[in-house]
Amino acid sequence: MKISFIGSGNVGQALARLFAKAGHTVTLTNRHGKNSLTEIVQSLGKNVTAGDLTDAVNDQDLVVLAIPFNSITNLDDHLLQGQNVIDATNYFPQRDGHLVKFIDHEIASSQFVADYFKGSKVVKAFNSFGVKDLPSLVRTKGALDRTAIPVAGDDPLKQTVMTLIDQIGFDAYDDGPLATSFAIQADGPIFGFEATTAELKVKLAD
Ligand SMILES: NC(=O)c1ccc[n+]([C@@H]2O[C@H](COP(=O)([O-])OP(=O)(O)OC[C@H]3O[C@@H](n4cnc5c(N)ncnc54)[C@H](OP(=O)(O)O)[C@@H]3O)[C@@H](O)[C@H]2O)c1
Repeated sequence: MKISFIGSGNVGQALARLFAKAGHTVTLTNRHGKNSLTEIVQSLGKNVTAGDLTDAVNDQDLVVLAIPFNSITNLDDHLLQGQNVIDATNYFPQRDGHLVKFIDHEIASSQFVADYFKGSKVVKAFNSFGVKDLPSLVRTKGALDRTAIPVAGDDPLKQTVMTLIDQIGFDAYDDGPLATSFAIQADGPIFGFEATTAELKVKLAD
């Protein structure tokens, strides 16, 4: 697949490396143009190139949102029209501002993202624990200690994302629709919980 990133910091670079290693073609972008990413893409291997924001939404199979949550509404709300999107962002009041609708769970943060980007399909994934741990947690399919990455979404796109997760060395755990994805948000019970599918199920049943 062709997979682009809006945001090329910790999350963008860690996932780009894993996706490229699995054979996908990756485009990294930020606000400062492709030249600012030259050294980074060189360090990530031949399947990774740098682009501008227009490249991130041109002829891509998946677009990964990997920016601070408070930057989302700086993007044009039509930018992701017709795009398949992975939302890897998290809302943190300390960083993103005291917003009652998220703090009081009036809306799940990824449901907000899906509503904001008109005409996009959004799946929440890769947000629930620190990406610095991803490389050491990669396991072959069937390994008893394979870590599960929770996903949430309403569209069949979720299955594509779950297959991608499997390809890069993780189980995918389906946590249901976006509207109820509170458990895997930054204030949820399994946030920061690096665990197998069985362990996640036990924790969520508590
Ligand atoms: N760090 C983790 O382990 C982790 C794990 C899971 C989820 N998350 C979540 O994932 C998101 C990204 O985290 P991170 O740690 O990767 O952050 P980061 O290292 O600070 O990187 C953020 C990236 O977003 C870019 N950016 C910011 N505003 C932008 C905009 N309006 N348009 C395009 N690019 C923009 C920044 O580049 P420029 O400023 O140069 O444009 C930078 O490349 C956050 O919501 C975070 O909560 C983080």
